[in-house]
Amino acid sequence: MVKVVVCGAAGGIGQPLSLLLKQSELISHLALYDIVNAAGVAADLSHINTASKVTGHVGKDSLAEALQGAHTVVIPAGVPRKPGMTRDDLFKVNAGIVRDLAEACAQYCPRAFILVISNPVNSTVPIVCEVLKKANVFDPKRVFGVTTLDVVRSSTFVHQIKPQFEPHVNRITVIGGHSGATIVPILSQIKQLSFSAEEIKALTQRIQFGGDEVVKAKDGAGSATLSMAYAGARFTNSLLEASVRGTRGLIESTYVHLAGNPGAESNLRSTGLEYFAQDVELGPEGVTNVQTLPNLSSEEQRLVQVAIGELKGNIAKGIGFVANGA
Ligand code: NAI
Repeated sequence: MVKVVVCGAAGGIGQPLSLLLKQSELISHLALYDIVNAAGVAADLSHINTASKVTGHVGKDSLAEALQGAHTVVIPAGVPRKPGMTRDDLFKVNAGIVRDLAEACAQYCPRAFILVISNPVNSTVPIVCEVLKKANVFDPKRVFGVTTLDVVRSSTFVHQIKPQFEPHVNRITVIGGHSGATIVPILSQIKQLSFSAEEIKALTQRIQFGGDEVVKAKDGAGSATLSMAYAGARFTNSLLEASVRGTRGLIESTYVHLAGNPGAESNLRSTGLEYFAQDVELGPEGVTNVQTLPNLSSEEQRLVQVAIGELKGNIAKGIGFVANGA
């Protein structure tokens, strides 16, 4: 029995993400939780002819029932950006939502894998980890910040200027975090193509701020939902392939707690950072091994330094929120 819970399932991301997860043959029970409309979304999806059971759970009183027995909890609950907002502007609202959901996970499904989509991911992942630490149920191998959309965008944007680069086949490592300057795509990894310095600069800028293109185009109606659902389903499916089916060698970039994760500490020991996005190999217990950072160009090294400075503030904000009970 593999139960996957989506918290925020009635939202712009939650609905298409749940639709994609309904197609997974590795999921036997899809539990959809939201403070509104989850029952309708569940009834709708339950008519799709795949074997998984779908249940809807609306409101705080049904959260325990939604989470009990969960193998994996995916969290896209919270408010999205409007034009002119940064992801950090969402902190005030989303920090409390994510903290409360993490507390419920600690109580009702302490061994579940937790996949955090709610922004600002750079701070919401530390919030989840601090809550789990407080409850004495923290396992760094089991909490993931979902940064897959940055990876997906990287392949797409490279393909758009170099059509011979197959976006579906070629994966680009993205390290750092998940907001603006903290997103560092490692374009120097692409050995089969050559790029001018201008191309690298423009691509990096577009990948870092790709989310803004969608926020602007939606003009007040939110941020990326469909591409995010695709990216969230891809990460969830990779984790299920590795943890349920036992497939080896599956690697995804994701934002994780460094201490306690195999391979992670040596990577960035000198920086004093507690969290960082990088390639990890997934396995039965979540993170099997954090991959060694690839060789970086001098420009990528500079971008990492900028990212580290910003990440430290984002991480401290998340940790402080749980410590001070704000
Ligand atoms: P949305 O507003 O369409 O949906 C959010 C859903 O969360 C709503 O259905 C709402 O009722 C629900 N919700 C609010 N409080 C809740 C609670 N306490 N418990 C359960 N559900 C709750 O927003 P959208 O577009 O789906 O975005 C969700 C989040 O994902 C935002 O924080 C957004 O910034 C983030 N996001 C993350 C990305 C990433 O790459 N990690 C990319 C795009 C968006």
